Amino acid sequence: MDISKQVVIISGANRGLGKQLALELLSRGAKVYAGARKPESVDLPGAIPVQLDITDPHSVMAATEIASDATVLINNAGTATGASLLTGNLDDIHLEFNTHLFGTLSMVRAFAPIIEKNGGGSILNILSVLSWVSIGQEGAYTAAKAAAWGLTNVLRLELAPKNIKVAGLHVGFMDTDMMAGSDAPKSAPEDIAKIAIDGIEADHYEILGDEISQQVQQGLAGGIPALYPQLFQ
Ligand SMILES: NC(=O)c1ccc[n+]([C@@H]2O[C@H](COP(=O)([O-])OP(=O)(O)OC[C@H]3O[C@@H](n4cnc5c(N)ncnc54)[C@H](OP(=O)(O)O)[C@@H]3O)[C@@H](O)[C@H]2O)c1
Repeated sequence: MDISKQVVIISGANRGLGKQLALELLSRGAKVYAGARKPESVDLPGAIPVQLDITDPHSVMAATEIASDATVLINNAGTATGASLLTGNLDDIHLEFNTHLFGTLSMVRAFAPIIEKNGGGSILNILSVLSWVSIGQEGAYTAAKAAAWGLTNVLRLELAPKNIKVAGLHVGFMDTDMMAGSDAPKSAPEDIAKIAIDGIEADHYEILGDEISQQVQQGLAGGIPALYPQLFQ
């Protein structure tokens, strides 16, 4: 796909990875709709700010009327409450699923017909290494990201005949507000944005952002003993 000819809508483009994705796309000549809950928080010269709360069907519908020439959708918006599945606040657990699973689905249901009408294109879902593996914390986020991976796999097959390629980006930790409280080694979001857009341009279905994603993907073949050796000690 020639990205310079694409019209891209990104959710959560006002900060973090979403902002870096928008900057990378603008630098490659794409037209960019920068979706944000507060469009006044978008600081991206050349992009078109669009009010977008992916958990609000009215907001999603209004965005389709503005970005009616879209050919690429990037589902980037995300939350990380840190909620445990067993003891966390149920509202937080619902928020994770309402954002990562149902919000993403709502965006795909709204924009896939538009992309199809515009001649086809791509959808990129920002997933995580936690779509594949649990690190024993972040239970609600991990389960919601795993659900978003399942959604990505289903939609890949369902949208291929409509000339829409659905890709997933898996990445470990990035240096954004979401991970501000963590000391773990983190990738620069601008580097991950480049890898993500390279992946779309190369028509990849699965994009691995960093070494930890590559290692965990390889570990999947080893099953539970490879992924969770602590269970066998
Ligand atoms: N950071 C990491 O280590 C990491 C690792 C793997 C995957 N990811 C994924 O990467 C994506 C971007 O995360 P980030 O690290 O850039 O996080 P971030 O800096 O916390 O940014 C999150 C973005 O999502 C937006 N957002 C949240 N809920 C939304 C909603 N209902 N509707 C529209 N926008 C919403 C936020 O908007 P507001 O400004 O309005 O809050 C913000 O723009 C997420 O899907 C995340 O799960 C992150």
